[in-house]
Amino acid sequence: MMVVPEALREGAKKARYVTSFMRQRLVHVNLQLLYTCNFRCQICDYWKAPFRDAPRLSAEQVGAISRKLAEVGPQVVSIGGGEPLLHPEIVEVVERLAEHHFPVMICNGWFITPERARALWRAGMYEISVSVDYLDPEKHDAQRGVKGAHERALRALRLLHENRTRSDQRVHMISVIMDDNLDEIEALIQLSRGMGITYLLTLYSDGRGTKHNRHAERDVSAHLLRLKSRYPEFVALRDYMARFTQAIREGGIAGCTCGTNLVNIDSQGQVSLCIDRMDEPVGSILEEPLAPLLARLQEKQRRSPCAACWTSCRGAIETIMHGPHTLDALRDYWQLTKRIPLTARG
Ligand SMILES: C[S@@+](CC[C@H](N)C(=O)[O-])C[C@H]1O[C@@H](n2cnc3c(N)ncnc32)[C@H](O)[C@@H]1O
Repeated sequence: MMVVPEALREGAKKARYVTSFMRQRLVHVNLQLLYTCNFRCQICDYWKAPFRDAPRLSAEQVGAISRKLAEVGPQVVSIGGGEPLLHPEIVEVVERLAEHHFPVMICNGWFITPERARALWRAGMYEISVSVDYLDPEKHDAQRGVKGAHERALRALRLLHENRTRSDQRVHMISVIMDDNLDEIEALIQLSRGMGITYLLTLYSDGRGTKHNRHAERDVSAHLLRLKSRYPEFVALRDYMARFTQAIREGGIAGCTCGTNLVNIDSQGQVSLCIDRMDEPVGSILEEPLAPLLARLQEKQRRSPCAACWTSCRGAIETIMHGPHTLDALRDYWQLTKRIPLTARG
């Protein structure tokens, strides 16, 4: 049997991904691997009942999902949940996804060790973001419900960056923009820069469960775009952030392309438009072919188009694929994904 070198395989996968993107097909999947979490974040519901008792996906099931998704082309598969590193087969999960796709992950950083970092990168991870919501450790720990969360998150960012195995693997610090951390964002970008990593953010969503309004009343977009023009390490897309103020004032942004360009799969394989609409699944990817599931999602969007959020996954895809400034968006995307040379220990 002919052995195809890894670089060639990855190159072919990237070329197929670009083709899917240009054809405006499905390119992004949010995979809620499990809901178990060691944190008790004030802004999140997944550690609470009924989520916390939901069964998790096994590595074997993820393998089956990975193969089914591959029928429509390579995806950026964003592993989330709960805390993905609490999954006992997380490395195997990444391997199964990386066979056909680009696995990325958001984690809280608590369980990262040098060995785990290397194992995740070797398994084929492309991007790992660690959540850091405040510069002030006490505020971060209070939001996250665990003492020491801030310190462990910063340690994780360093370990992940140092232990990369390929220069196209990227580490980001990521924050949720809320009413009380806007004035800490510049310092968080500077902190990221000092570590040699990059900085991302997402907009607070009150669409899941019972949430308080945690949105800032100021012109959030103007503030963030000013920072973006000053720091190349701040890699969130301009056209995504440009609509934060509108999203806050209007409760979301119209024109969602979930069901066509992105979907959500929960910890039992149930497919829905997005994480905020997991309670309206259209069927299981473990039991049905993907095509009819996508058709049902598209029908759902056609009948009642949703305009209830402006999450980062939507923001990235819609601004690049359908946005008004494609070239700027592509330039921003390149900053977000370009190779960063391995450090001495990497
Ligand atoms: C649900 S967490 C799961 C991954 C991991 N346990 C973590 O804490 O990063 C994924 C991302 O969603 C963010 N998040 C949690 N609640 C949110 C909310 N209400 N609105 C927007 N983002 C939220 C988290 O801060 C994190 O960056």
